[in-house]
Amino acid sequence: MKHRILFVDDEPAVLSGLRRTLRTLSADWDMTFVESGARALELMAQQPFDVVISDMMMPGMNGAELLNEVMRRHPKTIRLILSGHADRDLILKCVGSTHQCLSKPCDGAVLQATLRRVIALEASLESEAIKRLVTRLEYLPSIPALYGELVALLQAPETPVEEVARIVERDPAMTAKVLKLVNSAFFGLSRQVSSLPDACGYLGLDTLRSLVLSLQTFSQFQSRKLGGIELEPLWRHSLRTAQAAKRIAQRQAAATEIVDEAFVAGLLHDVGKLILAANCVAEYEQALRQAREKPEDLVEAERAVFVCDHADVGGYVMGLWGLPASVVEAIALHHAPSRSHSEGFDPLTAVHAANALVQERDGPTHSILSRGLDLQHFQKLDLAHRLETWRQEVRNTP
Ligand SMILES: [Fe+2]
Ligand SMILES: [Fe+2]
Repeated sequence: MKHRILFVDDEPAVLSGLRRTLRTLSADWDMTFVESGARALELMAQQPFDVVISDMMMPGMNGAELLNEVMRRHPKTIRLILSGHADRDLILKCVGSTHQCLSKPCDGAVLQATLRRVIALEASLESEAIKRLVTRLEYLPSIPALYGELVALLQAPETPVEEVARIVERDPAMTAKVLKLVNSAFFGLSRQVSSLPDACGYLGLDTLRSLVLSLQTFSQFQSRKLGGIELEPLWRHSLRTAQAAKRIAQRQAAATEIVDEAFVAGLLHDVGKLILAANCVAEYEQALRQAREKPEDLVEAERAVFVCDHADVGGYVMGLWGLPASVVEAIALHHAPSRSHSEGFDPLTAVHAANALVQERDGPTHSILSRGLDLQHFQKLDLAHRLETWRQEVRNTP
């Protein structure tokens, strides 16, 4: 059956651009283009749509208002926002009503891949249960402001390292954290790095951006009471998973983009644990207790208590932040890659393997085992024969 997709944007030029780039997909998708939220609601009252993609800034009804209305009237429709980075505050207003935010300008291939992933992801996640849970959570981490600035800078061609360093240096605590991390045994440097431009030069700008994003995300939970888990071990595990995922991707000679996405998804793959443990202290403690006593893996125990698990919640919230769909997918399915529609090596495969192999090497985090390798997934991608090499790679990773 063809998916029915509705595009909403007040600028006719944007709509005709989309129509042109997505033309080749008309065999799979039934696409409709309208210029206002009011018109979109009118059409939706007449016929059902599977997906609505709306611009954020529109006169009259803006994207957030439209999607809130769509959620109320047509809760089963997948809702996406296409917006510029400047609309970050507005995006946060759509928590609960939006499945994913894409940043503008969005090229045709990215949009296509994202739509395919979001549709597949929505079908595979118990999305209603997740949304219900996330909307009742009081404390959701916000997109680090520094991150938005870095993304904007890195999108511009040939941004000088000094300029990036200057932005990070405005936050002395963050600067200190980055330098401490770069000089730790983890990165195994032979000499001391004492300035941010140096650190940028050594790590590369993409790695720096991912580190800033995850350091700032984790630090938002620093003063919170967490139900039964500790921040420090989880951060260490996330860092190791990220590094391992990156090395595995490099071993596969994956494209730079996949390597970078595997790294950032590795850093944030367990962020759902923090979100659940900070909001539902007693319930999260109960899930951990249940996992220890039964014993069963953490995902099963979380599902028994919350209906969904930390991967679902983390993926959903990171989707709202506007992280790329492949990163969101890697986070959401890191314990269940078979639920994806992966057709080849991707960030999800790297993070799933890294997480399981790091656990194999280090022992379980919070002394609770989570699911191991999903052999079926590797067999499907014809990658099972690579596992031994990756295992060695992870053993040699700090
Ligand atoms: Fe996990
Ligand atoms: Fe993990």
